Amino acid sequence: MAKITKLDDIVALCKRRGFIFQSSEIYGGLASCYDYGPLGVELKNNVKRAWWKAVVQMRDDVVGLDCSILMHPLVWKASGHADKFADLVCECRKCNTRSRVDHLKDGPDAGPVAEHTSHVSVGAGGWDLSKKVCPACGAVGQFTEPMAFNLMFQTQMGANVEDAMTVFLRPETAQGIFVNFRNVLDTTRVKIPFGIAQIGKSFRNEVTTKAFIFRTREFEQAELEFFCEPGTDEQWFEHWRHERFNWYLRLGIRKENLRFREHSKDELAHYAKACVDIEYRFPFGSGDWQELEGIANRTDYDLRQHQRGMKTINAWIESGKDLSKVTLAPEAEDYQSGPLSYFDDQKRCRYIPYVIEPSAGIDRSTLAFLVDAYDEEEVRGETRNLLRFHPPLAPIKVAVFPLVNREGMPDIARNIYDDLKRYFNCFYDDKGAIGRRYRRQDEAGTPLCVTVDGQTLQDQTVTVRDRDSMEQVRVSTSQLKDYLRDRLEL
Ligand code: GLY
Repeated sequence: MAKITKLDDIVALCKRRGFIFQSSEIYGGLASCYDYGPLGVELKNNVKRAWWKAVVQMRDDVVGLDCSILMHPLVWKASGHADKFADLVCECRKCNTRSRVDHLKDGPDAGPVAEHTSHVSVGAGGWDLSKKVCPACGAVGQFTEPMAFNLMFQTQMGANVEDAMTVFLRPETAQGIFVNFRNVLDTTRVKIPFGIAQIGKSFRNEVTTKAFIFRTREFEQAELEFFCEPGTDEQWFEHWRHERFNWYLRLGIRKENLRFREHSKDELAHYAKACVDIEYRFPFGSGDWQELEGIANRTDYDLRQHQRGMKTINAWIESGKDLSKVTLAPEAEDYQSGPLSYFDDQKRCRYIPYVIEPSAGIDRSTLAFLVDAYDEEEVRGETRNLLRFHPPLAPIKVAVFPLVNREGMPDIARNIYDDLKRYFNCFYDDKGAIGRRYRRQDEAGTPLCVTVDGQTLQDQTVTVRDRDSMEQVRVSTSQLKDYLRDRLEL
């Protein structure tokens, strides 16, 4: 049970220190929705920055994009989400609670079922629910027939009757990239192989949400669609699975808490030929291991489908813009030379590129970084709570203190703070005993604390205290910025 306590401890710390709050808390909260507080938003932004740096900034073959959340409804018809992005659910006849069929467990003596976090294409039945237990009321075998429950949120766009239509909050950011493939080709010098990256919010009306910010209905994704020549896709798939695994390791996740899990054929999303998850050992759930990121081989599925979608517009208008009455246009025989094809001017040939997609959950990665960094240790008879964040992820990089509020120390400390905050996210604190100030920063995960003391007045040096070892060294104020930058790996 120690691990469950650990998640509870983290949830408590997140609330106490302003990392994460329940959404709309003063109204009793809104289930599965969370807000990032002052420290949380810094941490999450740092996770996003680290992703962008590794996936876009440091590479010559990836460009970025930021697409709208609301897109033309036909996007979702073409992508398959309107018809296939659903969970199979059943309803308990006793208490009317709906559950995901693949999450139900057998009677009391049965062990846990494997729980997949991805959504599978809904196919024919074949489920025996006679021994399954309702997780809400405990009734056994009291379920209705499974039915498909589409996970996309709908809303209405437009005030006038003639142009009002149903639109969807995007369930993945990827489609914004596919529908801009031509725009990027036409406005940049990218050549295949190349990728387009995006970070942004997505929405899924999940049947069951889970464990704090792990699975929420509104969440943030960091997705890369890497376009390559058919036949080179398996090699790029290997490249990206290792790149992405190593990214988590470089940012301090312990190797023993990270693993790959290959998807079985019946688990693959409707667009994927192959998929591997990077899983983290979270302190909750059945078996602990849960998906942080999926790396999928989406083949040429999406670009081909959007070529069909582009030819469906008239049918959609004639249907009264009712997606449920629209059939996607058939694929043209010469689809390989269609508008979303690529011309390779070296090889003098045209094809629809294949796509390798590393798709990371920013919220669940943020939770993994929090869990992995969390530590408690006994120091001189007291428990010290700390977050051992890798420095680039730490919300506050440097805290600056005057040892005492006299003899000019606050003025010197303020000047140091004003100088350093131009380069790092800093925090100034002159309240309370110095030991308590250090402890507060340990709990916020601040890697380094700078203290102005009596000796500073003599020789213009300050102490720099390390969060993890608690060791202190003296550094000259004239060297301080460069010293801190080296230590922080910035
Ligand atoms: N784009 C993959 C996913 O959203 O799961």
